[in-house]
Amino acid sequence: MSGDSRTPTSVPTAMATIELRWTQEMTQAHLDLRHEQLRVGMPRGSERYPGVDDDPSTRFLLAFDATTGKLVGCATMQAAACPHHAHDPHAQHTPCRFRIRAMAVAAHHQNRGIGSALVRELQRQATADGSGLWCNARLRAVPMYERCGFRCVTAAYELPNIGPHRDMVWGD
Ligand SMILES: CC(C)(COP(=O)(O)OP(=O)(O)OC[C@H]1O[C@@H](n2cnc3c(N)ncnc32)[C@H](O)[C@@H]1OP(=O)(O)O)[C@@H](O)C(=O)NCCC(=O)NCCS
Repeated sequence: MSGDSRTPTSVPTAMATIELRWTQEMTQAHLDLRHEQLRVGMPRGSERYPGVDDDPSTRFLLAFDATTGKLVGCATMQAAACPHHAHDPHAQHTPCRFRIRAMAVAAHHQNRGIGSALVRELQRQATADGSGLWCNARLRAVPMYERCGFRCVTAAYELPNIGPHRDMVWGD
């Protein structure tokens, strides 16, 4: 698969309609958004995920403002087995084979439901693939994931240069 994989999905959010598109192509606008939101004060290039972005099984989910066409949100779906699944007493029988990476929403578009819309589309795709999802979530993003049905499976821990995180799972 290359380029946009299917017709974009239009999703009304609190303030604007966004279009969600799956792609396997990395773009400069996507890197810019990752750097601006996820690598504040860090050098350019730190927003790349070597071994993930260039893995042919990785898929990117992008959110565009339907009016301006501007990229306003992004997430990466990496094929990576959940390390907690085998030890989690609450895990069901569905495998958990996909990890959410590098989710970000542009500053002036945050808190309008775009991040949640990205998560819901990731959940729809994971379900279609017969899998749950997992991620390591920044503490500030934990409430959003919980509203989408994720549960925490670790206490908070520090990722160097980035801050406190908790691992979360859904649908496994
Ligand atoms: C986290 C993020 C993707 C959420 O996108 P969003 O479109 O604002 O999310 P929604 O509007 O659907 O939901 C809002 C929730 O996002 C979270 N959130 C809001 N601003 C945030 C920020 N600056 N950083 C992290 N999380 C934030 C909160 O959990 C908020 O929930 P609350 O209403 O209980 O406070 C977005 O805020 C962002 O890009 N933050 C900076 C980068 C980041 O932290 N990415 C997540 C890595 S796990």
